[in-house]
Amino acid sequence: MVISRLKHYPVPMKRYQQLSHKLRLRIERGEFHPGSLLPSIRALSQQYQLSRNTVIHALALLEEGGLIQSRPRQGFQVCTGNVTVPPIRPREVTLGATAFSVLGAANRPGILALGSADPDNHWPLVDWLYRRMATSARQRGGNPDRSSHYSLPAGDPHLRHALADHLNATTFSCNSEQIIITQGAQEALSLTLRTVAEPGDLIAVESPCYYGTLQCVEALGLKVLEVPANSVTGIDLDALETTLQQWPVKALLTNPTWNNPLGFNLDPQGRQRLMALANQWDIAVIEDDVFGELSFNGQRISPLKVLDTDERVLYCGSFSKSLDADIRIGWVLPGRYFERLHYLKFVTSIACPGLQQQSLAELLRGRRYRQHLNRVGPCYGERAQRLADDVRRYWPTDTHFILPRGGMLQWFELPEAINSDQLFRQALAEGIGLSPGNLFCTDDRFGHHLRLCFACYRQDKKQQRAIARVGEMMALNLN
Ligand SMILES: Cc1ncc(COP(=O)(O)O)c(C=O)c1O
Repeated sequence: MVISRLKHYPVPMKRYQQLSHKLRLRIERGEFHPGSLLPSIRALSQQYQLSRNTVIHALALLEEGGLIQSRPRQGFQVCTGNVTVPPIRPREVTLGATAFSVLGAANRPGILALGSADPDNHWPLVDWLYRRMATSARQRGGNPDRSSHYSLPAGDPHLRHALADHLNATTFSCNSEQIIITQGAQEALSLTLRTVAEPGDLIAVESPCYYGTLQCVEALGLKVLEVPANSVTGIDLDALETTLQQWPVKALLTNPTWNNPLGFNLDPQGRQRLMALANQWDIAVIEDDVFGELSFNGQRISPLKVLDTDERVLYCGSFSKSLDADIRIGWVLPGRYFERLHYLKFVTSIACPGLQQQSLAELLRGRRYRQHLNRVGPCYGERAQRLADDVRRYWPTDTHFILPRGGMLQWFELPEAINSDQLFRQALAEGIGLSPGNLFCTDDRFGHHLRLCFACYRQDKKQQRAIARVGEMMALNLN
């Protein structure tokens, strides 16, 4: 009698067993591909808030089970052969409705948008910009001699010059003739994809990846190959190599610096290898660098474009994350694809609005934009920490994340029993906007993940209450 009752109450797993189980699931889901290295012991202990000893114990268990093997001076590698992971195959994207409901939700009046990637736009420089635009608009309005003419498709020459000066001073050398101004990075991404690929072509992306990329791919009739990525080391380059060997990939679309949604920054060796693979397989690289200027320590991370020896990188940037998303001005340096992209910009929208472009050109003059960035990065770093503190206080202990060192986004792995689509709907009903994990892939592999944005997380009462409430919802769902 006693024995049969005991059967219903299994001995709880020890912490190292729980971690080993979680890592096994991540490997089986394809997050860590056979042949790739697991994050370091230090990174795992930070991510799971466990001691190094517990992590070592968990890894030993996986090693005993033949799932990973130790590589001298490198770490632990996922064994080939002993694990069945879902193969990377071309997939159609069918994201539309969910993405629209999330974006729609974030924009509804009264919603506390914790999930969408909006910057804080309460900075003196943003005020300056809008005042400057108002002055220019008034001057134009009051000018009886004004004439009507379209801006140039590649952009206002003053803005292109000012942007080239800014990039030369902070990022890489270029000249204004290489730049095309776009309506935000979203238009840049759409134009780059249209430039390098045709309907039915295959585009490799990090998985999870920004849903706007997936939506673009969907709208253009392309297919994605989702290459696993994680918050510590970024895209799995072994898996990328295998993918390139197996499929006729047209382009890699990557967000290597302070990635959306994972928050990673691909290290310099990874960047070298990525570019070597692109050269070897002769594919275009679309580099989405919208968060590149937002390192918490103020240091500019060198984009892939710097390593581009044969003009195959189409480099995309924007003012949406550093100033305000509503300005809708971004840019692309399309390298060898300039002519085609220039033509597509012209036939798509002729040009971007002149008023914004002229005011931004003035904003970029002098040092004020750089001074602004030096304030924003560290401030976002503090806010990331505040959000992390509140999540640790109010969410289940089984919530895991790696604190990023730049950007504005935090990716969470929730307890497995939590369905983040359901959580999203529950929170929305109470006026809280979240971004559920499945928005960032083509299937439901991130069904217990969430992305939040910390750019505006000042830890005020309303925000704290919302985080606490989401924690309560999760606790209820777990019981
Ligand atoms: C990674 C990434 N790329 C591009 C965009 C679109 O940027 P924009 O507002 O400049 O069009 C976003 C917006 O969230 C993003 O997160």
